[in-house]
Parts: sequence; structure tokens; C-alpha cells
Amino acid sequence: METRNHIRFLLNGEEQRLDKVRACDTLLDFLRLKKRLTGTKEGCAEGDCGACTVLVGRLRDGVLRYEPVNACIRFLATVDGCHVVTVEHLRGPDGGLNAVQAALVEHHGSQCGFCTPGIVMALYALWMEEPQPSEAKVEQALQGNLCRCTGYEPIVRAAMAAAEHGLPEADPLVQERAGVLAALEAMRDRARVELGDAVLPGDVGDFAALYAEQPEAIVVAGATDVGLWVTKFLRDIGPALFIGHLDGLQGIDDGGDAIRVGAGVSYSDAIPVLERHFPHLSEYLARIAGWQVRNMGTIGGNIANGSPIGDMPPVLIALGARVALRRGKEQREMPLEDFFIDYGKQDRQAGEFVEAIVVPKPEPDVLHAAWKVSKRRDEDISSVAAGLAVTVANGHIANARVAFGGMAGVPKRAEQAEAALIGAEFSQAAFEAAAKAVVRDFEPLSDWRASADYRMLVAQNLFRRFWAELGAGEQARVWA
Ligand code: FAD
Ligand code: FES
Ligand code: FES
Repeated sequence: METRNHIRFLLNGEEQRLDKVRACDTLLDFLRLKKRLTGTKEGCAEGDCGACTVLVGRLRDGVLRYEPVNACIRFLATVDGCHVVTVEHLRGPDGGLNAVQAALVEHHGSQCGFCTPGIVMALYALWMEEPQPSEAKVEQALQGNLCRCTGYEPIVRAAMAAAEHGLPEADPLVQERAGVLAALEAMRDRARVELGDAVLPGDVGDFAALYAEQPEAIVVAGATDVGLWVTKFLRDIGPALFIGHLDGLQGIDDGGDAIRVGAGVSYSDAIPVLERHFPHLSEYLARIAGWQVRNMGTIGGNIANGSPIGDMPPVLIALGARVALRRGKEQREMPLEDFFIDYGKQDRQAGEFVEAIVVPKPEPDVLHAAWKVSKRRDEDISSVAAGLAVTVANGHIANARVAFGGMAGVPKRAEQAEAALIGAEFSQAAFEAAAKAVVRDFEPLSDWRASADYRMLVAQNLFRRFWAELGAGEQARVWA
């Protein structure tokens, strides 16, 4: 395989070629400290506030897509072959404001201004996709941007009025698209990039071989967990294998009776497919992190990190998903619930990685629910998350799969509660019995997020909620 020892990418209008890049170098530090592009701010340095939002344009299947991301937790090495756009690039030829900036001025959408460049970049990305967005769309685009002093109402008003100040067709980023696309195509050589303590494998086979040889290396996909090890714990992550660019991990195959989601698929790419098959996941998935993190974070990373409070495992377990693992050329698959052995321990050998998640398509007569209970609606980690799949046949519960996050050291099925449901008449009493039985399934912990008692009460109430929201209407259908 061809190798090179430098990364190359476009930064605004200029090509960059860098060979001294360490695994833990962040894009934000490069922009602010090396390039003095200080329009991009540093607030939290953990992906939460959005002050560092930049756009990253990447080629996928010949299409150039720009996505807002958090430069603070984006590793510099991972922008190889991309177009990085900072707020400075929005300046018009005469120094004038972009449509989004003009709308923010007109609607008084900025006070101290610290959050403003990040908000501009998120809204700019939205305006390019949807110049006249609904209020709900604007709110969703701003989930990852914190403003402490203006208040969101004028910002939302500005976002909805941006099209009055100009349309994307005339925007430089749209006008220069063909040139950028050609430049990125020319950079794409699928070579392995070796940068000292960081390697970007050339393809999935190359990654599999490298990781099998060097199992102590840290795998970095979207870096929305690993980024914080560097910015918050000041950890050195080298040697690191960066995999976020590997097309071979980013496919979604939904032909056949299951949906195979590559481990490197971001939330943003997975959501449209998952919600098409499982509409009940729509609201749930929209509450994972904010837009910037959803553009970077991967489904595979959410599983591989083994977190007891990751949002994907409980709903995927309830759907009967399997995890596909690979070490070198060896591949194996197992039910997702079996992957989580104990707190901090997964069924993954040294040098083995998560290759895909396989989700069976929905069967008829299964009622689904997915709920996330957290302190804030947006940008918060779950106190309790639950996925429920209940099969109803002839007025009885033929099967039930119920999994919880936040209730134990691992995401876990509620076996006692499932047993209380299976075989019972589809009735309020069955869900009341499950609410009582779930007490025997878990001994949750108390932490600053939620007390053990609170978590248990929430888990019990989610069975009651299932009946209240899906039971009464369904009962009418079953008996009709
Ligand atoms: P990375 O950070 O790249 O990696 C995470 C871990 O998994 C590392 O140990 C890495 O070595 C390993 N890894 C990654 N991919 C693989 C692979 N294919 N095979 C083997 N190992 C692998 N999570 C939620 O569940 N819900 C939320 O609402 C949420 N909100 C967040 C908000 C913010 C602001 C941030 C910063 C994070 C949030 N997270 C949330 C956590 C994080 O976004 C998710 O866990 C995400 O899915 C991690 O994926 P990643 O690709 O970024 O993983
Ligand atoms: Fe807060 Fe990056 S600095 S999200
Ligand atoms: Fe001050 Fe938003 S204008 S933080």
C-alpha cells in the first residue's frame, strides 16, 4: 500500500500540507495558535458549547458535503482530504456580511458576541441546506450552540429570516464548489498516512491488519469521546489509529431483512435510515448530543466505548441488533447484549474492532418505544434510557424485549420485567406487573446525575408510560 507522511487539506481558500502532526493535536489549536484564525472560539473544549464550530466539507461517493463540527475535539490529522471552512471565509469580497450574519445583526442576535461565530457557522450550514427552515429545524440546528446572554429568540428569528438577506446560490462556498470538489478529488489517493504516533489507514483491510499487529493503539472514530481524553484529561493518545475517513466502515445496507450499519457511520448519516424503518426512534435520536457531535460521533463508537449510559445500546438491544466484530481477517457476530460483559469490560479481543451493527427490520405486530430521560431536553447524557419492543398477538403479549441504560454497569435487558409481560394479556395489569418486576432486575447507582431511587422510579414509570401511550389505542385495534 502506498504511504505518505503528511496530511493535506483545504483551509478556506488555501491548500495546507503538514507533516508534523501529533495524534493529540486538535483542529482548534491549529486554527487559533498556528493560523491565527481566532474567529473560531474556545469555550468548553468538550463539544458542548459550539463556540468552536467550523464546517468540514468531505467527499462521499463523489458528493461534497459540508457539516458543522466542533473544532475543539476534532483531531487535526482527521481533516486530511477535507475542506475546512472557518468564520473568516464568510467575509464577502468587499468585507461585507454573509446573509446569516446580516440577519443576526438585524434581529439583535448577539450581545457579548462570544458564541456568535459558532452560531453563525451552525446557522450558515443550515441555511445552505435549507434557506427557509422551520422553527423546529432551527432549534435542532442550535442544540449544540450555547448562548449565555442574548437569549435564543432573536437568534431563532434571525435564522428564519436569513433568506431575506441572500440565498445560498450566490454564496462563495456554492460558487466555488466545483473547484473545491476537483481539488479534494485530486488529494484522494487512498494511501496510508503515517504521522509518527498517528496513522490513518488506507482502507478497512489495512486498518484490520494494523490493529491486529498493534492492539495497544487507540482507535479513534468520531473522537467525541476520545477528544475529551485529550482536552479534559490531558492524555496523550498516541499511538492512534484514525478510522473516521474509512469509506469501508461508512456504508449502510438496508436491502434484505436487516439493516447493516457500518461502525463508522455518524449519527447524522444513520438517523434518516433508522427513522425510516423505526419511526419511534425519531425523537429519541434527535436528542443525542447536538448537531456538531451527531456529525462526528459514530454508532460504532457508542457501542465500543462500553458506556452504561450510551444512548444507542438500549434501543438497539430492544430491536434485537447484533454486533459484527473483526480481528485481522477473522469476523464474528453476536447479539449486542452479549457484547457488554461488565462495567468497562466487553467481549472484544485485543486488536478486534467493531465493524458493523446489524439491526433486523421491524416485524408486524411489534409495538416499539424508545425514551431518554435526562435533566435537560437537549445536549444531555441520559439518567435512564430505555428501548421496548412488545409483540402483541391475539390480545396477548407474545414477546417482549426491554433494555435499559443507566440502570446498571452495562446496558442490559430487564429479564424479570420481560418475563412478567410475556404470555400475559395485553392489558394495563401486565405493564403494572412489569413495573413491579423491574425492581428485581437492577440495583442502580446514585451519582450526581440521578439517585438510585429516582432511576428505579423512572424505569417503573416507563412501563406505565408504554401502556398509557401505546396500550389503550393498540388494545382497541387488537380487539376490533
Ligand atoms: P470515539 O471518541 O472515536 O471512540 C470512543 C471509544 O470507542 C474509544 O475507546 C475508541 O477507541 C472506541 N472505538 C470507536 N470506534 C471503534 C470501532 N469501530 N471499533 C473499536 N473501538 C472503537 N453519547 C450518547 O450516547 N448520548 C448523548 O446524548 C451524547 N451526547 C454527547 C454530547 C457531547 C457534547 C459529547 C462530546 C459527547 C456526547 N456523547 C453522547 C458521547 C459520544 O458522542 C458517543 O459515545 C459517540 O457515539 C462516540 O462515538 P465516536 O465515534 O465519537 O467515538
Ligand atoms: Fe465548546 Fe468546542 S469549545 S464545543
Ligand atoms: Fe454572549 Fe451569546 S452573545 S454568549
